[in-house]
Amino acid sequence: MAKGGFATVYFGRDLQCNREPVAVKLIRFRPDLSEWINRRWKLEQKALESLRHPGILQPREAGITGDDQLFIVTEYVEGVTLQAVLTRGSMELDRAWARTREICEALEYAHTNGILHCDLKPDNIMLRNVGQSDERAVVIDFGTAVFCAPDHSIMDSNRAAGAADYMAPDRLGGTLSTATDVYSLALVVFEMLTGVRWRDAEATAPTESLLQRVLPPSTTEDRCTKLTTVFRDASAFDAHTRTRTVAEFQRRLTIALP
Ligand SMILES: Nc1ncnc2c1ncn2[C@@H]1O[C@H](COP(=O)(O)OP(=O)(O)O)[C@@H](O)[C@H]1O
Ligand SMILES: [Mg+2]
Repeated sequence: MAKGGFATVYFGRDLQCNREPVAVKLIRFRPDLSEWINRRWKLEQKALESLRHPGILQPREAGITGDDQLFIVTEYVEGVTLQAVLTRGSMELDRAWARTREICEALEYAHTNGILHCDLKPDNIMLRNVGQSDERAVVIDFGTAVFCAPDHSIMDSNRAAGAADYMAPDRLGGTLSTATDVYSLALVVFEMLTGVRWRDAEATAPTESLLQRVLPPSTTEDRCTKLTTVFRDASAFDAHTRTRTVAEFQRRLTIALP
């Protein structure tokens, strides 16, 4: 179905379970990285197995093929990635907000269970039943997940794996915490709302005017400024001054959105 950074994902059917559709993630072998890949694969499995949430990909099985390839079998998500939707532009406000709440809930749940995703981006979020009334966001790809007790932080031993565009600066040799995921989350949410990447937005047009364009015409300038502040605080370069938790980001968004 797709080729990600480290794996190829195939569509399959579970012959022991009514031929139910599944996704088979086959990790590409890299002789130079075999130990690292092995460790990541175990962590990804462990992360998926410890999370049971409708907004998080559910695992089924993991193992090693006859020719020594590592794999993880998960439920199949019928839909497309958020990336595929965003390449066509912004999402309607209600839809973006509904998906935002689902992503926030899933991440908050992972964090409460001591797991940081660390590579949140539109490619790693799927929209199940895309375009239908029961569309739902599902967070996938825990291939760079980090175990970290809630309210704690952890030194990053897994540097630089991840998408630079959405990656928090702390991923480049800092201390990881829930704020690491908040950073990426804020960028994703901003892009869902405006259809513009945060970095491009900050570099080209005033963020307030971009938001004004997508929010209802009655939205005051003051509200756009407040909303911009929510995004700036959640994507602050320094993790110590950044919005700390997903719940806090969501609470502030709820207050700021019209
Ligand atoms: N369970 C699934 N159902 C449907 N598509 C999936 C599923 N898991 C992954 N994909 C597709 O495969 C792509 C790569 O999967 P991912 O787990 O992100 O691998 P990588 O670690 O290589 O980035 C995803 O962006 C998505 O398009
Ligand atoms: Mg991925």
